Amino acid sequence: MTEQKERWGTRIGLILAAAGNAIGIGNLLRFPAQAGQNGGGAFMIPYVVSLLLFGLPLMWIAWTIGRYGGRLGHSSLPGMFDKMWNRPIGKYLGVLGLGLPMVFCLYYTYIEAWCLAYAYFSSTGQYISTPGSSVDLAVFYNEFLGNATSHSYFPSVYTALFFLIITILLNVWVLARGIVKGIELLAKIAIPLLVLFCIILVVRVLTLGTIEGSAWDGLAFLWTPDFSALANPNVWIAAAGQIFFTLSIGFGSLECYASYVREKEDIALAATTTAATNEFVEVIFGSMIAIPAAAIFFGSSQVQSIAQSGTFAIGMISMPEILRSFPGIQFFGTIWFLLLFFAAFTSSVAVCQPVMAFLQDEAKLKRGVAAAIVGLIWVLGTIPVIFFFKYGVFDEFDFWAGTIGLVVLAIVEVILFSWIFGLNKGWEELHVGALMRVPNFFKFIMKYVTPFALLAIFIGWASQARLTPNPRILWNVADRSNYSGKFQMDPPNDEVHQIQQSIYDEVNSANRDLTAWAEVNLQSDGNLQVTSYSADPHLEKVFDKSRFERWLKLQNFRYEVRENNGPPRMQAAQITIGLEALDRSPYIWLARIIIIGFFVVFFSMVAVIWKSRANGIKQGGVA
Ligand code: TRP
Repeated sequence: MTEQKERWGTRIGLILAAAGNAIGIGNLLRFPAQAGQNGGGAFMIPYVVSLLLFGLPLMWIAWTIGRYGGRLGHSSLPGMFDKMWNRPIGKYLGVLGLGLPMVFCLYYTYIEAWCLAYAYFSSTGQYISTPGSSVDLAVFYNEFLGNATSHSYFPSVYTALFFLIITILLNVWVLARGIVKGIELLAKIAIPLLVLFCIILVVRVLTLGTIEGSAWDGLAFLWTPDFSALANPNVWIAAAGQIFFTLSIGFGSLECYASYVREKEDIALAATTTAATNEFVEVIFGSMIAIPAAAIFFGSSQVQSIAQSGTFAIGMISMPEILRSFPGIQFFGTIWFLLLFFAAFTSSVAVCQPVMAFLQDEAKLKRGVAAAIVGLIWVLGTIPVIFFFKYGVFDEFDFWAGTIGLVVLAIVEVILFSWIFGLNKGWEELHVGALMRVPNFFKFIMKYVTPFALLAIFIGWASQARLTPNPRILWNVADRSNYSGKFQMDPPNDEVHQIQQSIYDEVNSANRDLTAWAEVNLQSDGNLQVTSYSADPHLEKVFDKSRFERWLKLQNFRYEVRENNGPPRMQAAQITIGLEALDRSPYIWLARIIIIGFFVVFFSMVAVIWKSRANGIKQGGVA
């Protein structure tokens, strides 16, 4: 017995669900970070070009493949590709559409869980400074993730684990309720809330006034075009990567959602509307919150370096830092993190739905059972992400699934569509039931431009892959919450890099983590002495007390306090520093083995299912 094929309940529900799929962390954090890192206005031209060359064509292709597959009873890529290319290899290529989203959701949901946790911390005022003490948000964030050698605010990563489990339970609950009562209903609630939250925050940011700069400086940074950057291939690669990520291209998730439309649904229009909604949220809301806020608070010259600190640093460190300096932090902070949480929630259910659909349509499991299996893999798979975060498991998953993998799948898909299935047939399929016509020159783009441009992007990304990761040096001031000022240092120079390289070499020859701790006396004139030091014998060889002291001095390590919003002044402090040089290799390989493991399992499932179907046909049964 198979369950009745599911369909979206209403058209507006379909559009909201599709928008929920696309709108996520990518729009509100990754976009401003990428734009900031790639020179603001310099980023926007390659971004728009990528939208036209990759974004829209791949969007239309995905919706066409999805509806076509859905009509033939398949909501996941193995079945869809099998119907498009009647060779054994078709269905195996489709395994990319199961393995990649499964890996992706293991770390994407973790980000979602941070947002939920931070919404809670905001509402309880956990990171709000009181006179005489201030929570260092960077340390707070890193300790929350176990990405530190200290435990001043969080004793362990169990707080993060707790919020992750809640997040996964919520996701599994929605998935188990199915398309209409689960995903569609969630989108109908979450998307209007999301827009409301965006408006509240935009109004808040635009009314913050001028401190180091104005909101206008932030907008000017993003929107003043800089044509010189067009010659930089890295900006192009980053822009294309952002388009893939934000539109949810290359995971089989769009195809899956499109498989639940009615046969005569105008998918040309639906795909275009989804892309337009996503771009509106990204380019308008995504650029009117974090970047202007950073420009107001830190000045426009600082925006780039804040963006450089990374996607999450903007969301989890800079934004709360800015918001807590104004009245209403508990309210606005909660709204900011709930906004991110809802954006991520409607995306994470979309990531897992292809696997859900595969287990239901192809493996013939009941929906509840499928949801339970997905939930179990999810919890187990996330454990290494949480416990080995500081070794880079999270980043490794992101690199292979979120950066390389989706480009590979997009290449396969566009070639299948334009060259194997046949562009003319595909073009007709796209327009069945459509009032909207896609301009004809996109046919040319889909056949000749997108595949080759994708190949170029792929080569760009792949050349960044590193087989053996560098060790990582991690260190923190112990009992951080006892110090109300900030510990600062200058960027590393060549000699600092040399010292660190010698530490890496030592970790690599010892094949394990090496630790050290030190007591340091910081003086108000900027001088410092290491008063006691003890290190692993391996580390001691290359990084003894005097080299450690030199390393601190080379970077002008200092303690600064700001009184009554005056300028920061150096002060004396007695501190303990914990340092770890981490041997990341075993954990990076663990991450890779997990990825390979998912592919092996899905590959075998596809093989077994199709084999048993073929046998069924031979014996006169119905496939
Ligand atoms: N588009 C999502 C965002 O902007 C992230 C994402 C990438 C995604 N690929 C996906 C979501 C696949 C769902 C399915 O955050």
